[in-house]
Amino acid sequence: MAQHQAAMAAIGSEEARPLGGAAARFGVKPYPDLAYTPEIAEATAPIYEKVRHVIPAIEWPVHAPYVFHINRLKAERGAIILAHNYQTPEIFWGVADIVGDSLQLAQEAAKSKAEIIVQCGVHFMAETSKILCPDKTVLIPDSGAGCSLAASITGADVRLLREAHPGVPIVAYVNTSAEVKAEVDICCTSSNAVEVVESLGADTVILLPDQYLAKWVATQTDVKIITWHGACEVHERFTGEELRAYRQADPNIRIIAHPECPPDVLAEADFTGSTAKMIKWVHDEHPEKVLMVTECSMADNVAGEAPGIDFVRPCNLCPHMKRIQLPKILDSLVYMSEEVVIDPLIAEKARRSVERMVHLKS
Ligand code: 13P
Ligand code: SF4
Repeated sequence: MAQHQAAMAAIGSEEARPLGGAAARFGVKPYPDLAYTPEIAEATAPIYEKVRHVIPAIEWPVHAPYVFHINRLKAERGAIILAHNYQTPEIFWGVADIVGDSLQLAQEAAKSKAEIIVQCGVHFMAETSKILCPDKTVLIPDSGAGCSLAASITGADVRLLREAHPGVPIVAYVNTSAEVKAEVDICCTSSNAVEVVESLGADTVILLPDQYLAKWVATQTDVKIITWHGACEVHERFTGEELRAYRQADPNIRIIAHPECPPDVLAEADFTGSTAKMIKWVHDEHPEKVLMVTECSMADNVAGEAPGIDFVRPCNLCPHMKRIQLPKILDSLVYMSEEVVIDPLIAEKARRSVERMVHLKS
């Protein structure tokens, strides 16, 4: 909505400027009327069924017109929406074409035939799609959606690390900027970090920037891991003490955690894995009660298709993921904003690291 208001303010004023970038190439669409009509109520009723466990009926008339018009415009523009597992349920269930963890989203971006990708996730995810699909138009509804891990290291830092450890291969978690990906040998996600590290056939590997993911990988392999001091501001807030209290209150509770959590948290977990692996574990194990040690929206999204499972949610929100909201997604499709642009030289170098990961056979 913010962008819509800004655009309206600019129309007819001296600030109105010619369209640039993606808006010039694809044109701007009329901003839709967001009334909750009977047609919209009927068209979105099946979607509401999937989110009714987390969105009260009184709130649906606010979301439904956005969901309806986003889906309509997506079809008109031939766009595809990729959404991370941490997106809110109205995005995850309402407008996404593909949902998944970082690896799945990168693989789907690479395979997609759509000319336009709207990335509902944080900036590094949209950059990864652009790196893999240089000829496509990649939009992110809020380019301010960052990540504490991506912000923890620069390309210059990686060059210094390489100087300090000559000959040691460098693996970058995908939660990094394109500039960092351009400096490393290969990327990894939390889903394939162990396989990527072992694929290099080296005794020692630098795995950056997440100190906790690196520590967890070191427990899963004989390869010596050198790391950086980055951390995820969401997962580092969980504590082992907090989890022990949950287990004491109910010894039957199952605890599953993301590898970005500190070691004392992972020591309490029955399973550790990427967001997609956590979801698979819930479907395979069908626990009576499960505590998901990760971002809040995950449990909301999984609960919809896992009836009978009691989800305990020690809720830590990712403020960056939560910048992506329905009104901004609608703005993206109306105004073709905000386009992800990467320096072609950096993108070409970064592509080698990301493609090497995507094509890795485990
Ligand atoms: P996944 O690749 O497991 O989805 O993790 C991405 C992320 O940002 C977790 O905080
Ligand atoms: Fe980054 Fe953590 Fe948010 Fe994931 S949850 S995007 S690692 S800040």
